[in-house]
Amino acid sequence: MITTAPTACPAWKKLEAHAETWRDASLAELREGDPARSQRQIAEGPGMRLDYSRQRIGGLTLRLLAQLAAERGFDEWRAALFAGEKINTTEDRAVTHMALRTGNAAAGILELANSIRKQKRYKRIINLGTGGSDLGPRLLADAFSDGALDVRFVANVDPLELERALAGAEPSTTLLVVVSKTFSTQETISNAEAARRLGYKNLIAVTANPDAAAQFGAGEILPIPDSVGGRFSVWSAASFSAVCALGSDAFKEFLAGGKEIDDHFLGTPLEQNIPALLALLGVWNVNFLGIHAHAVLPYAHRLRQLPAYLQQLEMESNGKGVDRVGRAVGYATCPVVFGAEGTPVQHAFMQLLHQGPRAIAADFIDAAAGEVLSSNAQAQADALAYGTTAGTTAGTDVATGEAELPPHRRHPGNRPSSILKFRQFTARDLGRLIALYEHKVFTQGVLWNINSFDQWGVELGKELAAKNPQGAH
Ligand code: F6P
Repeated sequence: MITTAPTACPAWKKLEAHAETWRDASLAELREGDPARSQRQIAEGPGMRLDYSRQRIGGLTLRLLAQLAAERGFDEWRAALFAGEKINTTEDRAVTHMALRTGNAAAGILELANSIRKQKRYKRIINLGTGGSDLGPRLLADAFSDGALDVRFVANVDPLELERALAGAEPSTTLLVVVSKTFSTQETISNAEAARRLGYKNLIAVTANPDAAAQFGAGEILPIPDSVGGRFSVWSAASFSAVCALGSDAFKEFLAGGKEIDDHFLGTPLEQNIPALLALLGVWNVNFLGIHAHAVLPYAHRLRQLPAYLQQLEMESNGKGVDRVGRAVGYATCPVVFGAEGTPVQHAFMQLLHQGPRAIAADFIDAAAGEVLSSNAQAQADALAYGTTAGTTAGTDVATGEAELPPHRRHPGNRPSSILKFRQFTARDLGRLIALYEHKVFTQGVLWNINSFDQWGVELGKELAAKNPQGAH
């Protein structure tokens, strides 16, 4: 498999030269000069449409990016991923979260969750877990809980979070779900011990380390496959608490949505392949336009947990400075990913995206939450792309029609974004959305020649904290 530096690829050099031609190109002028552009830079996928007409690219850019993907051996790496080859070389593991989206992989947890929902023995379920053992299930439950059960999440070792989650809960009618792939994460084990000391003894463990869970005294132990990374485990039993919140039908829909995107990713040419397109656009923005921050802006309250989820998925996967063969990368990799839900975000940090001196790229996710949200998402994307300079040097005051806008009212524009528009937004669409970003992350790892499936950088801080448990300065 190809592990040479991407900067050695002929396409990379061509892209560097090509980027020079784009430095001063104006999206506003492009739109005016080529009205068909917004019809052309569109890709259709299962239940969604990607509009990337506000990205600073043209047809040649996309062809050069596709050439780069070919020179990086994208097809071979994708085949190796789905063939279960050990592409996570530093952990000597395959990467198999896609397998959880098919067949009866989830049968056991669906049955148990349904019986818990039916029996009504438990009034409250407390998920104790952090990172991938919290962010995915929390997003899923927050997005599609049907209210049948009171399901809460505790990730922090700050006792206040556990206290609040347990407030008013009877030990006999409360179930703890302790989710930890390693079953060694300090915060999760401490919270489980603390809850048990408080008399909460009903406990299910979800882990890839059943021996440790049994030693901890867990009765029921649900498995997480070793070859499923924490931040890719939302498809597994790690989502047990969320399945209790959603019910098995919705979870099956969620899995089916992920499977649909696997088929789309495997079978769609690059130009119409949404995960691959998002990956290529991201590399273009980071490595050729020098844009090192990426906002994820879901225009739906039910997706308010999505930015936090994607922060782990993207930054823990591709926040790497060493390539697949141990060389320091001489190029940028994962941008800073951040975000918040629309429309509240417009009244929070969008000021910086609109008028800050540095461009920030963005994904707007239009999750069919209503016309007002769709129109605001589109308006924000247009303001970022086309600014107020359209056709004039200083811009027109849209309110007064005045020709001259004072400098503090001007928007430079040319800030790239994509709009991912869903026809409706069900649990199946959430499955599609998450799988989309997973394959985007994988594809960027191939382009940047880094291992997207390990996270060695998280260990030093844990070791130092363990050496100094009191935090003495
Ligand atoms: O410290 C980072 C990390 O290892 C993540 O990769 C993981 O999702 C999280 O901690 C929780 O790990 P575990 O599920 O093993 O408790």
